[in-house]
Amino acid sequence: MIRSNEHYAGLPGAYLFATVAARVRAHREQHPALPVISLGIGDVTRPLPPAVITALHTAVDEMASAASFKGYGPEQGYDFLREAIAAHDYRARGVQMDASDIFVSDGSKCDVANIQELFSLSCRVAVTDPVYPVYVDSNAMAGRAGRWTGDRWSDLIYLPCTEANDFVPDFPAAVPDIIYLCYPNNPTGTVLHRDALAAWVDYARRHGALIIYDAAYEAFIRDTEGDVPHSIFEIPGAEEVAVECRSFSKTAGFTGLRCAFTTIPAAVTIPGPDGARIRLQDMWKRRQSTKYNGCPYIVQRAAEAVYSPEGQEQVRATIAAYMANAARIRSGIEGMGLACYGGIHAPYIWVRTPDGMGSWEFFDLLLSRTSLVCTPGAGFGPSGEGYVRFTAFGSEADTTEALERLQELRL
Ligand code: MLT
Repeated sequence: MIRSNEHYAGLPGAYLFATVAARVRAHREQHPALPVISLGIGDVTRPLPPAVITALHTAVDEMASAASFKGYGPEQGYDFLREAIAAHDYRARGVQMDASDIFVSDGSKCDVANIQELFSLSCRVAVTDPVYPVYVDSNAMAGRAGRWTGDRWSDLIYLPCTEANDFVPDFPAAVPDIIYLCYPNNPTGTVLHRDALAAWVDYARRHGALIIYDAAYEAFIRDTEGDVPHSIFEIPGAEEVAVECRSFSKTAGFTGLRCAFTTIPAAVTIPGPDGARIRLQDMWKRRQSTKYNGCPYIVQRAAEAVYSPEGQEQVRATIAAYMANAARIRSGIEGMGLACYGGIHAPYIWVRTPDGMGSWEFFDLLLSRTSLVCTPGAGFGPSGEGYVRFTAFGSEADTTEALERLQELRL
């Protein structure tokens, strides 16, 4: 008899951003007069850079002629893109990386959700708290998270990141096998400085753990001193104990186009069933070539154009515009007397709710009184309670209007 995967039955409610969207839809129906402004989900609003559009047109034309038409591509990505990534994202920053260590995909969300398949169900998983929910939910669906206890999973190791520890996770009492780190952080918008990241790499090396490092927001780092790493592979030794996920979504406006990559250096190995070490990139290749047919050719050409001199200049301008929003949101919120974090090297601003209000309560208050959407911190984990997240990805006009509506609330 067919039976459902029991781990799905144990999942609480819907995916965070789906829950938010449902509440916003209901509000829109009841209050159609005041247009909703969303600074909730981190979706980009500025158009693709012109260099990307040109590359897309050219690639589309190539598909129109038999001589240049492309069918199935290599599952791991075309060499032209893997080479461009290795050169610009790694070697230009002094990190040795081979193009063959780079695996192109249609999104970091899928990669960070899928990679847990490579590990035994007995592996202990640690996540920073608050956390991007995909790491948690994908492990819960697989049966690695234990039981949902109301605000957390029984078998996950939570690494609180709060004002008390300056949003830098401490090493846990129980040693994990897999550690998810995301920096610049979603949702808090905070960063890990070089020493703190080096300490985590050292910890992983000492304990035989693997770090899954989500660097989807690295392009937003404004640091000129070089103290905030763009890649975990800037830390010596990380190439044996870390995997890195990067994306064109937020960097270059690809949330609708879809292109990302996961870097798994050849030196990363984990023990197999008989104890002999297996190269993780071989397992990932095996998985991807079985379950995935690769990111579309035209999209990979578009991603390649991000690295052209014009592409780089255009992307920098877009990011600067979002970061100007971030600065305005920060100062507007601070001006209202609320504590806020992030928004300096990241497009997210993490705000303490007023008067100890719960984060869903504050979300509902903003939505009902001002038609403004944020993301409730509690949706990101137990340490997110008492906070909400605003994104800087809105348009300049929406950001201005959102700040005006917030002021009118007189919190
Ligand atoms: C977010 O709002 O956290 C992001 O949009 C989520 C994502 O990139 O999937």
